[in-house]
Amino acid sequence: MSKLFEPTKVGDITLKNHIVMAPLTRNRSPGAIPNDLNVEYYRQRSGAGLIVTEATAITHQGQGYADVPGLYSKEAIDGWKRVTDAVHAAGSKIVVQMWHVGRISHTTLQPNGGKPVSSTNTAAKSKTYLVNPDGTGSFVPTSEPRALETSEIPGIVEDYRKAARAAIEAGFDGVEIHAANGYLIDQFLRSGINDRTDQYGGSAENRARFLFEVVDAITAEIGARRTGIRISPVTPANDSSDPHAQSIFTYVVEGLAKYDLTYIHIVEGATGGDRDYQQGDKPFDYKALRNAYEKAGGKASWMVNNGYDRDMAIDAVESGRADLVAFGKPFISNPDLVQRLKDNVSLAGFDQATLYGGGATGYVDYPTQVKAA
Ligand SMILES: Cc1cc2nc3c(=O)[nH]c(=O)nc-3n(C[C@H](O)[C@H](O)[C@H](O)COP(=O)(O)O)c2cc1C
Repeated sequence: MSKLFEPTKVGDITLKNHIVMAPLTRNRSPGAIPNDLNVEYYRQRSGAGLIVTEATAITHQGQGYADVPGLYSKEAIDGWKRVTDAVHAAGSKIVVQMWHVGRISHTTLQPNGGKPVSSTNTAAKSKTYLVNPDGTGSFVPTSEPRALETSEIPGIVEDYRKAARAAIEAGFDGVEIHAANGYLIDQFLRSGINDRTDQYGGSAENRARFLFEVVDAITAEIGARRTGIRISPVTPANDSSDPHAQSIFTYVVEGLAKYDLTYIHIVEGATGGDRDYQQGDKPFDYKALRNAYEKAGGKASWMVNNGYDRDMAIDAVESGRADLVAFGKPFISNPDLVQRLKDNVSLAGFDQATLYGGGATGYVDYPTQVKAA
């Protein structure tokens, strides 16, 4: 049997295989509180060595889509505890993806109907998902954000710290920092979005400052051995761009190498789309990124994602190109994905119309959102 299906270690935890369930927003937690449906959904997918939960808002302000779960109330922590207990009882491990959406939000989802916050005052050419009063769902343009004052940033970093503590209280094996797909941390990293003139804008060092402050706060609170991070160096998701992706993300991984993190999770190409998607004039060199990380002393597991099938996953792990492979969409329609991959049987297809929790307009994949906006 392939190494893909054999146990492995990530940080201090042992996984029963090298297969990870990628984070998948499902919009099924009204009030930001995980419920019975979420417990059952994750329990069914416990064949994965590791489950990364759907993105989970660290605060009400960090919320940008209807009915996504949070980590900022006692009820939410209690709800998540039921999920983590179910997954552990089924022999898997689970980390929570920590999310602040930044400008990918809507005033109706924000505290007191305020503007979403970002690194910039410029609205994203993107959409978010709302549930209408009659229960149907729809995608609507994101609201105009306001750029965070420099003096507000420590408060957001503190929100991440508190949410990391809440994650441990909820029984998670660790956290994944969501620094991908054009959300708040990425809104600082990408030069096509970040137009700040303070110490959080301009040079790579400045644009990555917020990310490293968040990593510092979380690792100080719960330990680097329980902290992973997701980045998507070239994705255009949520109106993200940076013509010099290789240099900013090399800077990022070299900095991350200084922490004893559990894993680095890389979305290769356009999230949910073209794996060869390119920003700037050269293809992104993922091998060089990993080399830079390791040369800087980084030892975390290397997790890859985006459009992987069985053969690609086996090859990635056997060749040593990756330690872990994350599957997204295949896990939605195949709760028993790992068994199916082991048995090498065909996978159930998924219904685009139900991908976002069954909303009336259905799922619009990330690159399409950008084009459609
Ligand atoms: C319905 C849906 C929801 C998603 N939600 C998230 C999310 O919450 N956080 C995240 O980082 N990526 C999210 N993604 C992206 C997936 O994690 C993954 O990167 C993408 O689907 C590509 O992997 P795949 O080809 O195996 O599906 C989502 C994708 C889909 C289809």
